[in-house]
Amino acid sequence: MAFTIAIDGPAAAGKGTLSKALAAEFGFAHMDTGLLYRAAGFRTLSGVDPVDAALALEPQDIEADNLRTPEVAQAASRVAAIPEVRQALTDFQRAFARRDGGAVLDGRDIGTVICPEAEVKLFVTATDDVRARRRHQELVNKGHDLTLEDVLTDLQVRDARDSARATAPLKPAEDATVLDTSEMSIAAAIEEAAEIVRARMTQVS
Ligand code: C5P
Repeated sequence: MAFTIAIDGPAAAGKGTLSKALAAEFGFAHMDTGLLYRAAGFRTLSGVDPVDAALALEPQDIEADNLRTPEVAQAASRVAAIPEVRQALTDFQRAFARRDGGAVLDGRDIGTVICPEAEVKLFVTATDDVRARRRHQELVNKGHDLTLEDVLTDLQVRDARDSARATAPLKPAEDATVLDTSEMSIAAAIEEAAEIVRARMTQVS
């Protein structure tokens, strides 16, 4: 049986942590769709055409560990504004979303465009300051040398570009539940999201 949890929201809102926890809790597969755009964006940094980069993407490309830098994030958000790039990545995401056994996908347009029929839609958000602090800590822990301001600027520039684009802009689906995690512990956010999923599972079963 297919059951899709769509998790959207701005950069560094905690979508990844929440998605992984929900996938583990319910035994679902998880896809971080930002990695698709990061992998395509990464290729454009060495001069590859964005649409060619997206069309040539292989599943193993998204496992690379050099995709998590602000430079690659910016490249991702630039290629993500190109409709043909998004189109090239759509079928792969839709097939994953409807796989047997359940799936959690996190990104910007999962509940609005990729999987409008998702059983659960969450829009996870937090203040700019909270998001920048969390992402800064994460990057510093991985050994990156960045200031809090660098991280804040990266998030704000990307959110503005992701929200303003004409194709699949960042916005909550009309039927999404908004979860503001600014003042929530990770455990509390996971529990609240898991409750929403359980309630929906009871409805659809
Ligand atoms: O989620 P993450 O921050 O890794 O995404 C990197 C960029 O990829 C985002 O800033 C956004 O431009 C793009 N993206 C998107 N649609 C998605 C996931 C990511 O446009 N579903």
